[in-house]
Order: sequence, then C-alpha cells, then structure tokens
Amino acid sequence: MTAPKVLWASRFRSDPSPELMNLSRSETSHFRLAPYDLVASSAHARELVRSGLIEKAEGERIQAALASIGTDIQAGAIHPSSTDEDVHTFLERILMERLGPLGGKLRAGRSRNDQAANDLKLYLRDRSRRMALDLLGLQEALAHQAERHIFTLAPGFTHLQPAQPVSFAHQLLAHAQGFARDIERLRDWDRRSARSPLGAAALAGSALARQPELSARELGYDGPCENSIDAVGSRDHVAEFLFVTAMLGVNLSRLAEEIFLWSSRQFRWIELDDAYATGSSIMPQKKNADIAELTRGRSARLIGSLTTMLTALKGLPFAYNRDLAEDKRAAFEAVDTLAAVLPAMAGMVRTMRVNVEELKRQATEGFTLATEVADWLARRGVPFSEAHEITGGLVRYCEDRGIGLEDLSDEEFATVDPRLDASIKSCLTPEAAVTARNAYGGTAPERVNEQLARLRSLFHDQRKWAIHYDGPRT
Ligand code: ARG
Repeated sequence: MTAPKVLWASRFRSDPSPELMNLSRSETSHFRLAPYDLVASSAHARELVRSGLIEKAEGERIQAALASIGTDIQAGAIHPSSTDEDVHTFLERILMERLGPLGGKLRAGRSRNDQAANDLKLYLRDRSRRMALDLLGLQEALAHQAERHIFTLAPGFTHLQPAQPVSFAHQLLAHAQGFARDIERLRDWDRRSARSPLGAAALAGSALARQPELSARELGYDGPCENSIDAVGSRDHVAEFLFVTAMLGVNLSRLAEEIFLWSSRQFRWIELDDAYATGSSIMPQKKNADIAELTRGRSARLIGSLTTMLTALKGLPFAYNRDLAEDKRAAFEAVDTLAAVLPAMAGMVRTMRVNVEELKRQATEGFTLATEVADWLARRGVPFSEAHEITGGLVRYCEDRGIGLEDLSDEEFATVDPRLDASIKSCLTPEAAVTARNAYGGTAPERVNEQLARLRSLFHDQRKWAIHYDGPRT
C-alpha cells in the first residue's frame, strides 16, 4: 500500500504509521461535507485573486476544476481513498491531480482548522432549515388533526389522573407550541451562527487572504468572525445546535409517549393507520406504535450528542485542538436521527384516527366536572376553600353510591349543601366546562380556534425563513 499523502508531511522523516492514520482519518460520514468545502474553496479562490496571489485566469481554472469535482462527486465518479486523512485532503488531492501545482496554490491563506469550522457551520445552517421544514410537516399534521377536533371533548389529565375536560385539539396543540419554539430556537441559533471562520488561517488571521468580509458574504454569512482564535477554537454554536435538537428530541419523545398511551387498549383514544404501525412475529393480533417507541428511544441519541460536544469542549485550551473533530459525529448523528424521525412522526399523526365517542365518554369519568361545582359556588360568594370542602363531600357521596356527579338529583345536591340549588345542573356538562374556560390560552373552542390561526401564521413565517437562504444548499 502506498503511504498516505498527508498535507503536513514536509518536516517529517518517516511516513505516518497505520495506527496513527487509523485513528486520525475522518469517519466516512464526514465526507458529506465535500459540497460545502468546495463552495468555500471557490470563495477562497476569488479571495486569492483579489489579493493578487493568483492570476484571474488561474482563478477561473480553479473555479472550473472545483465545479467539475463537485459534479463528479455527485455522480459517484470519484471517492475519497482510504489514505485521504479528511475531506480537505481528499479534495486537495483531486484538485492537484487535475491542475498540477496550480491546485497547490489554494492552500495559501487558509488552514484546515478554518475549513473544518466553516464546513460544519455551512452544513448546519443548511440542515437546520431542512430540519425546520420536516418539523413543519409534523406541525401541519398536528394542525390538521386539531382543526377537526376543536369540538372533540377529551379528559384532561394532571399526574395522569382525570382532571378536567378539554378540547382534544387543545391537547394536540400543546405539543405544537413546544415544536414552534424549537423552530424559533433554530432561527435564533442561526442568527448567532452567521459568522464566517474563513480568514482565521489556523489561528492568528491571514497575512495573505485579507478580506474575509467578502468571502463571508459570498457564503451567506452576515460577516466574518470577530476574532480568529474564536473562529477556529469555538464550538458553542455546535453545542447550542445540539441543545436545540436535544430539546426537540425530548419534545418529540413526550408526544410519542402520549401517542403510545392513547393508542393502547386501555385508552382507545386513537387508532394508528396500518402503514404507520407494526405487528408481532408471534402474536398475530398485535398492532404496535413502534414509531412512537423508536422516537422515544432515539431522543436518547440526541441528548447523547449534546453531552458528547459539551464534554469534548470542557477544559480545551482555547484555540484549535483535534478534540474538536468530535463536533462532526455529534452533529451528524443529530441531523440524521431527526431526518428519519420527523417524517415518520408526521405521517403517524396525520393518519391516526381519533375515536371521538370514546374520548367524549371518558371526558367525564373520574369526576372531571368537580371543579365546575366548586367554581359555581365560588361565583356565588362561597370562599373557594369552603367550596372545595363541599365539592369533596359531593364526590365522596357519589363514590359511596357508585354514581357520577351528573347522576345526582336536585334533592341529593341540596342534602349535601342547601346552597347547591337546581341551577347547578347546567354547569355539569363537559361542553359547559370547556366553553367556560374562554380566556386567552384556555380550552374553549373559540380560543382554541384562534390559537390555531396564530400558530398557522407562525408556521408560514417559519417556512419562509427555511426556504429563503443565501448560503450554499445541497
Ligand atoms: N479534519 C479535522 C477536523 O475535522 C481538521 C483538520 C485540522 N487538523 C489539524 N491537524 N490541524 O477538525
């Protein structure tokens, strides 16, 4: 086997050992950064023309070669070899094969430290938008179900115990609110990450490539990094991205957990479409919510990626260190996990059938209208603590007889407390309970409708952000 052509060989007397290369070589998945590295190389070539380091015609030959390398990679015509240490080495090798010594001119004024930081930033800025679009697919699915179930009554839980009736749409949209914040976090992260590391030239800034503000603009950034050491040595933008994806993973996991419960034999709130459920190889009757379970499981990876990045950063001297190469595996794991999870969750939610009658029946099980009695008394001037006592007495009375609040006769109400007159009956329906909660953010159908409309306009805004982007996309 020929010895690897590493970019740093010149001062070494022997070739790198296979053990070193085995450890040092980038994982295969890192070569996905090639398209971003090529666009950045193209911007760097223009910078070198501006600085007078290469002739205009040479710059054009380099641009053409970079473009053809991009096409060939896409067509699967060229591949990294087992001796290419990383994506930058791979691309320089091909460029030199095609252009000879001219290819070697591109290394002036830059280092793999800035390239590595830049490539991943460009990748994440691009992918965060795709991720947002995938998440908006799930949001549309939630909104579609919510729209149909604004008037569907459901038992609302606290502590997983029956609490108060709610609109089923309200419960669904509670999840949509969290996901909407996840996308806002991505947008906010993107604003802070829109600074180009190019021009750092490993550490101190370049004496050759002297207008990093121009290459920054060409790559869709707001400007160059303020500090060349920070440009190559920081990864808080990766850690922050991974926090956003970990939080999204946790939010997905909480939705998954509910879907899993709702589709259980005990709940019977929803039925999953056959295309989004799995069976058992031994028990023919089974229909399992595997998508929900896998999503819950995969959220562990997302949390793990954040932990990896934070742990790799802790205690690093502040400049480039090889430890920083851990950023890619962590980031790719998060991106790949969500690219698989989000469309599956969206499809499962969009196609699930809601058992409206069953939800309505369960909406009043477990004395969920007890708060209505206490509220009714409070409206008549009874201190809430006393109203609570009286209502508790009613619940005990019903429990002893195995009946519900709605089964009590006028006389029985009056026996428990003479202030409970016949007019209380009109409050003791789940419809009345839900309609009464009509302040901003409440579960009353009209409020839920408005909530949905506001969410939809936010989705529209978020979609625009995800679609309009000046940086490189692949
Ligand atoms: N491939 C490396 C990374 O992913 C960049 C190489 C920088 N290496 C170096 N020895 N300075 O971070």
